[in-house]
Amino acid sequence: EKAGYDWFMRKEIYEQPEAVANTLLGRYDVDGALRLDQMSIAASELKRIDKIVVIACGTASYAGLVAKYAIEHWTRIPCEVELASEFRYRDPIVGPTTLVVAISQSGETADTLMAIRHAREQRARVVAICNTNGSTIPRESDGVIYTHAGPEIGVASTKGFLTQLVACYLLGLYLAQVRGTLFGDEVERLMAELEQMPDTLRGMLENQDQVLKLASDFSDNPSVLFLGRHVGYPVALEGALKLKELAYIHAEGFAAGELKHGPIALIEDRLPVFVVVPPRGRDLLHDKVVSNIQEVRARGAFTVVLAEEDDDEVSPYADVLIGLPKVSTLLQPLLAIVPLQLFACELATLKGHDVDQPRNLAKSVTVE
Ligand code: M6R
Repeated sequence: EKAGYDWFMRKEIYEQPEAVANTLLGRYDVDGALRLDQMSIAASELKRIDKIVVIACGTASYAGLVAKYAIEHWTRIPCEVELASEFRYRDPIVGPTTLVVAISQSGETADTLMAIRHAREQRARVVAICNTNGSTIPRESDGVIYTHAGPEIGVASTKGFLTQLVACYLLGLYLAQVRGTLFGDEVERLMAELEQMPDTLRGMLENQDQVLKLASDFSDNPSVLFLGRHVGYPVALEGALKLKELAYIHAEGFAAGELKHGPIALIEDRLPVFVVVPPRGRDLLHDKVVSNIQEVRARGAFTVVLAEEDDDEVSPYADVLIGLPKVSTLLQPLLAIVPLQLFACELATLKGHDVDQPRNLAKSVTVE
């Protein structure tokens, strides 16, 4: 059933274009209105929401971090993200005008389930983003957006993550539409870009030899760092998590702007540092990341840079440049994570590990 692949994980990485397409299917009417069939929370109520709290664990929490950037930008509703395991133990402020978004691939994660139970006791409205039909978390939520990734067998989440991102974007755009916070044809433009993603991903997946080769160069490295800013930051966290889980290598993701506040002390000669560079745009974001790359490189780091394929401002500072197709900044995580997934999968394979069932881990964590 691995369809010729060595691991379910690798198969699932290559299934991502289709998974993304399926998650988008039927969400967008010809008249330009977004439809979330099982949302079940009335528009009138969504208009009254004054705070969003995203709750999740692990990879799903990184999708949640991306959601925060997108949802706040598109809807201007304050949005926080919290690890489910922290949420209910700190007496969080939630109430009838809070929308809690619980993200869980399995729909059975105990920490997340307990957190939404707590939120509902405080009369918050809960919408689940989930990949498993009829699982506990969507059953105990007011509404659900199903990610149609198909079964994810590999313990490390891949297509689960990409489809969670898509569902978060859909939710953000839906809320923006309900509340009228995006102007002109912005929703249409972003939806068109999302609809283009499966093809873009397909193209990318055909061209990953460079990343596979990189894995063989790095297979003896004891530590790898990942840097990003804005939505590149959660991508860095997810890239690091994949490497920890699969290759058992010490890996850390940092917000690039934090370097000077500590992590730069870790940089030493030949330390591999992956950096996610945002698309070139009107803001300073791109240039800031380029200077962060210069800073680590000046201290001896070996830089693996993920940037727009024709980004010649960054290429002089990249020991290896992994080209990403051009997309809007907020959507870039959908593309930038793919080489990092493959890198971790390949490195773990070369080290002889069981990629689908890493040591000490379970696919769904049903105890707190
Ligand atoms: O099923 P869930 O999405 O609730 O699972 C959450 C985490 O346990 C999960 O994402 C975990 O971090 C994965 N092993 C990541 O690859």
